Amino acid sequence: MNNIRHFIEPGDFTIEEYDEIFRLADDIIQTPEKYLDVCKGKLLASLFFEPSTRTRFSFESAMLRLGGQVVGFSDPSGSSAAKGETLVDTVRTVENYADIAVMRHPKEGAPKLASKSMTTMPIINAGDGGHLHPTQTLTDLLTIRHYKNRFDDLVIGVCGDLKFGRTIHSLVRAMSRYENVKFLFISPQELKMPDYIKDQLDKSQYTETSDLQSVIGELDILYMSRVQRERFVSEEEYLKLKDFFILDNYKMKSAKQDMIVMHPLPRINEIATEVDKDERAVYFQQTKFGMYVRMALIMTLLEVEVQ
Ligand code: CP
Repeated sequence: MNNIRHFIEPGDFTIEEYDEIFRLADDIIQTPEKYLDVCKGKLLASLFFEPSTRTRFSFESAMLRLGGQVVGFSDPSGSSAAKGETLVDTVRTVENYADIAVMRHPKEGAPKLASKSMTTMPIINAGDGGHLHPTQTLTDLLTIRHYKNRFDDLVIGVCGDLKFGRTIHSLVRAMSRYENVKFLFISPQELKMPDYIKDQLDKSQYTETSDLQSVIGELDILYMSRVQRERFVSEEEYLKLKDFFILDNYKMKSAKQDMIVMHPLPRINEIATEVDKDERAVYFQQTKFGMYVRMALIMTLLEVEVQ
């Protein structure tokens, strides 16, 4: 059986399919009791070759809240990957036990490679190196839908580590499919958005700057991100850049009253904790949307419905 659907990159679903997932997530939020048993008898394999709090916990909570069960690891040193087993051999083995797998891996393209050897088990990319993080994008879009009630006609500032920030790469890919969305790429020179992401955009769709204060007043959404220490070759370079942007209450004074501040988290220093009390700061609400949208994604890929 080769027609199984995986979710490896944001473009694996159409805009219409995204809408269906968001409608399902909305219904789960409204009436969670309807969904308590929809995945009864199904098993999620949770394969985290890199650390995670939100993605792993939200996927595992999602499956458990749907009545399914979870197996897996949060540290590959406890699996036979530590003995040198290849990724493909690992997932071909897991396919004999589980119905669906979610995988985070430090190597770009690893979930796609794994998906090519599958015959029955959908693979979900939970982040591959500095490349993509499409389920964070589902989380982000459900959050935007909730607070802005639209995906068109938005000015989105993405700020921080645009070079290695996989959540940002995925978000830009997904949001660029909507009408009249303009991006402000806000980063130090060393952490600019890679060309392979910009090449997918029309030049009129984005502007680049290193000055957050001068553009914050134009934004409908400010998407902050941390500098990704684990992707740097040089610790010295990381230390030089890590505090380049710090969003604080002073900067927030220049922002629109209905701008929202998003962040995939974890946060290091890039948002001062004083901002958490600002009602425009929605990053902790965003983490909850992540669980609901992942419930909807699991149901979609497993093709299960409420009876
Ligand atoms: N947003 C996100 O991917 O967080 P975790 O690394 O904690 O999963």
